[in-house]
Amino acid sequence: MIAKIEQLLREVKAATAASADELEALRIKYLSKKGAVNNLMADFRNVAAEQKKEVGMRLNELKNAAQEKISTLKEQFESKDNGDAELDLTRSAYPVKLGARHPIMIVRNEAIDIFARLGFGIAEGPEIEDDWHVFSALNFAKDHPARDMQDTFFIEARPDIVLRTHTSSVQVRAMEANPQPPIRIICPGRVYRNEAISYRAHAFFHQIEALYIDKDVSFTDLKQVLLLFAKEMFGNDTKIRLRPSYFPFTEPSAEMDISCNICGGKGCPFCKYTGWVEILGCGMVDPNVLEASGIDSKVYTGYALGMGIERITNLKYQVSDLRLFSENDVRFLKEFEAAY
Ligand code: DAH
Repeated sequence: MIAKIEQLLREVKAATAASADELEALRIKYLSKKGAVNNLMADFRNVAAEQKKEVGMRLNELKNAAQEKISTLKEQFESKDNGDAELDLTRSAYPVKLGARHPIMIVRNEAIDIFARLGFGIAEGPEIEDDWHVFSALNFAKDHPARDMQDTFFIEARPDIVLRTHTSSVQVRAMEANPQPPIRIICPGRVYRNEAISYRAHAFFHQIEALYIDKDVSFTDLKQVLLLFAKEMFGNDTKIRLRPSYFPFTEPSAEMDISCNICGGKGCPFCKYTGWVEILGCGMVDPNVLEASGIDSKVYTGYALGMGIERITNLKYQVSDLRLFSENDVRFLKEFEAAY
């Protein structure tokens, strides 16, 4: 009997299974009710008394070996199955690096989102513009200093063609395209000014313009939108204040300050210890501007506002040097990986 047990033990140790069915067959062969181990157990009572101890031990050994073998084979099987399911040969062998959005684009998208929720659609216009859309239609006097060569890039061969100095030119295009308001648009884009490049000025930067024209639009509507925009962009505790100002294309005009986002209004170098920072210009569209674009100023009124994206980005992310925005240094850009 010992020889038989030993023979079975060798078999068990060498056993393999290539499929779940083969594994089940092994289990039946050795461990089921009518399997080899149970058969031997049945024979055990015929074993001579003096051999019982040894045979009993060997029998137990066989039983344990069979159980162990079956459970290890089962384990191997299961992990092999999972492994196959997870194996994706199309995956890159290297970790995938996430790109980062440019901070100017992050803030631009955020502003677009805020205005989109108020029903504003996006409008765009050319960066190479004519004098009419950048200046004349916006009520700039012929001798206005903004037309000066020192501020504006002109195209040498065509003095009436300029690089737009502000996105207000898109207002004019939107009104010309739709002389039947309502008009409710936001125009993000790049603008150019002939400035010496330094940490605080650049020859090109970005603006966002908003324009709303309809019947009965009032300054109160403008103020509400400004407050909502400031809270959405800078946080619910943000306060705004409007200061009277002048722009050729709006009457009345104002500049808007927000409570300094960096010190919370307590006073810091960024707000020059005033607790307030200017972020945009705005006002009621001058009737001359409406008329120049073919809109009846007796029927319609509207408001406009314009802001620099770099300035807002600085307030949100405290970028100390404007040149960082256009140098494309990946160490700088990588800092915005987590932003959306
Ligand atoms: N275009 C002005 C600038 O570049 C900003 C501005 C001010 C836009 C008032 C507006 C506005 O629409 O109403 O400085």
